[in-house]
Amino acid sequence: MPKPIRYRRSPHVVCYWKAGEFIFHNYATNRRAGAAPIACEVLDFFGDWKPLSELSAARPGVARPALKQLLDTLVALTLLHRSDRENAPAEQAMDMFGPWNPEAGLFHTATKDVRFIDAETSGRELQAQAAAWPMPSPTKRYPGAPVVTLPQPAHHGPVDEALLARRTWRRFGKGTIPLATFSTLLGLTAGVQQWVSVTDYGEVPLKTSPSGGARHPVEVYVLAWGVEGLARGLYHYAADVHALEVIQEGMGPERIPEYFPQGGYFAEASAVVLFSAVYERDLWRYPYSRAYRAPLIEAGHLCQTFCLLATTRGLAPFSLMGLADSAIERDLRVDGIHESVLYAAGVGVLPEEADWAPAPPGFRVPAVRPNRKLRRP
Ligand SMILES: Cc1cc2nc3c(=O)[nH]c(=O)nc-3n(C[C@H](O)[C@H](O)[C@H](O)COP(=O)(O)O)c2cc1C
Repeated sequence: MPKPIRYRRSPHVVCYWKAGEFIFHNYATNRRAGAAPIACEVLDFFGDWKPLSELSAARPGVARPALKQLLDTLVALTLLHRSDRENAPAEQAMDMFGPWNPEAGLFHTATKDVRFIDAETSGRELQAQAAAWPMPSPTKRYPGAPVVTLPQPAHHGPVDEALLARRTWRRFGKGTIPLATFSTLLGLTAGVQQWVSVTDYGEVPLKTSPSGGARHPVEVYVLAWGVEGLARGLYHYAADVHALEVIQEGMGPERIPEYFPQGGYFAEASAVVLFSAVYERDLWRYPYSRAYRAPLIEAGHLCQTFCLLATTRGLAPFSLMGLADSAIERDLRVDGIHESVLYAAGVGVLPEEADWAPAPPGFRVPAVRPNRKLRRP
């Protein structure tokens, strides 16, 4: 006689109420659905592998076909596993987060692959929103608090100049960037500058940015199509040897609208740099979920460094987090859990006619005024 099918709850299920609805959410597969609280009892029952007959015996008042239908639904939602079927690869991958779960796992998957809307619709929606809910103040004061006035910043040196000159560019000039310049941006942003021996567990890298515990969880990838001397393609930056590893030759700006659904105009730049996180590097050292924040913060360090360096080289940098995560991860051949893309920067040639081009072609350039309270050189 064939063995009866057994069922077991996915280890990655959380339940919560949202807008009054009771939601079951598998944070490995990111499948979620509203259901009656009885589903909770059933999922609780299947903490270990059990056949339908055991559930039926425990719930004599409910017809067996109804229970079978409920189990089928829970299986389809990936909330329940079946002994005769393979689980989604994401279930196994999510086990890696171990002690960070469920809080990090839920945040990780639930914030991925968001729906993008076009700029016009988003503009209209924001206008309507601002009428009902005015934009919050972008700065803060403590009314009535004694005030210590500060001397004006003294500007000197190239770092100050780069900070003051850095802007996000969304229009670009013609031409290419020399490989030597692009290589400098990569090396000074993400290259391993030194190795430190840590007693008991080995060597850790030092880079130009700080990293919690020197774990350096951020990896860097390059999609280049306008770098003189570098063939178009998708590359991994090997931080220890300062070299590019070819992932896919020939890839170029045609990938940009897919990678950045709201940023097709970045295809006029020369290259983008993708920042991903290898979570295990932090998890190994910090087995508590707060450490999930480290790669997010550190990607910001690297991105800013890249943009400042590009600015000092007279180039037009940009940064963006409007990414189609899974599309990028497919090309990078990473699973989106062990390693997941976080953030992107890029660089192009400065457009000739503008001293700053924050708006893409066809969009209104916003008015900018200096803050008179803070002197600029
Ligand atoms: C976390 C983060 C996410 C961003 N995401 C996007 C994005 O998806 N698309 C985009 O065009 N710009 C993006 N930007 C750029 C901002 O729009 C830009 O920094 C902001 O308008 C201020 O202009 P500035 O960079 O010239 O100071 C992002 C910047 C940051 C820091």
